[in-house]
Amino acid sequence: LLPSPSNDRAELPIAVFDSGVGGLTVLEALRKRLPTEDLVYLGDTARVPYGTRSPDTVVRYASRVAGHLWGRGIKALVVACNTATTWALEQLEIEGKRRGIPVLGVIEPGVDKALAVTATGRIGVIGTEGTIRGARYETLLRGKRPGVEVVSVACPLFVALAEEGWTEGPVLDLVADRYLAPLRGKVDTLILGCTHYPLLRAGIGRALPGVVLVDSATSMAEAVARALPPLGLSARRASGNMMLLATDNRERFLALGERFLDEPVDDVEIVDLEAGEEWLEHLRAVAP
Ligand code: DGL
Repeated sequence: LLPSPSNDRAELPIAVFDSGVGGLTVLEALRKRLPTEDLVYLGDTARVPYGTRSPDTVVRYASRVAGHLWGRGIKALVVACNTATTWALEQLEIEGKRRGIPVLGVIEPGVDKALAVTATGRIGVIGTEGTIRGARYETLLRGKRPGVEVVSVACPLFVALAEEGWTEGPVLDLVADRYLAPLRGKVDTLILGCTHYPLLRAGIGRALPGVVLVDSATSMAEAVARALPPLGLSARRASGNMMLLATDNRERFLALGERFLDEPVDDVEIVDLEAGEEWLEHLRAVAP
């Protein structure tokens, strides 16, 4: 008996995309929440960081990464990168719709969680320069609950600290104190709007005592778990596999990956996103 096409689709992997290793925090949350799903992760380590790039460039990079992932056969695309979600989610949703593949961005689940836990309606958002400039968190928060007060602060050095492994100690405390000072006494809830920030949770918490920290990684995993069953896309196998892909620097990915995934990372495959494009260019040139 052949399985129906819809059953086949449910057994395809969920793709998780990030600018680099940071999205492994989202992958970890997904693995815990959805242990029977196959997951394929692509970190665009050749082009990281996205946080300081212009919107057009982020859209171009994200679209190229998604192009590779659609080609692998996936049932859903999770955009783990906050900066990519800020600038490129709409474009990716359009591309996904054309292929019948749901696309989920990391921002909305974090917004819903923050609105659910805030007692005062005063919410802080921290993220990369791009995420704060694009103000997607702020726009969604205000759209869903007019009257909410939002204070947003870009904390670019946090990414470097997390990658360097300085997730505790005086340097983190100094940097956190300085970045988070504008939020002190102003908010009761803080959205960690960047893949890297869950690693700095302790230091961020010390700088803002009593403030509830909303981690978009776990909120994202919850949102994916809710989205799959109504679409008939839940896998039925006993346990899922994980595949890691990156676009550059295997050694760095392996060294940093373990910290973000919270388990040993023993293999990552390097993929060349430009190879396909060069081939297309060639085809266009020989058969215009
Ligand atoms: N993944 C990015 C984010 O969540 C942080 C790293 C970067 O700037 O690319 O915004």
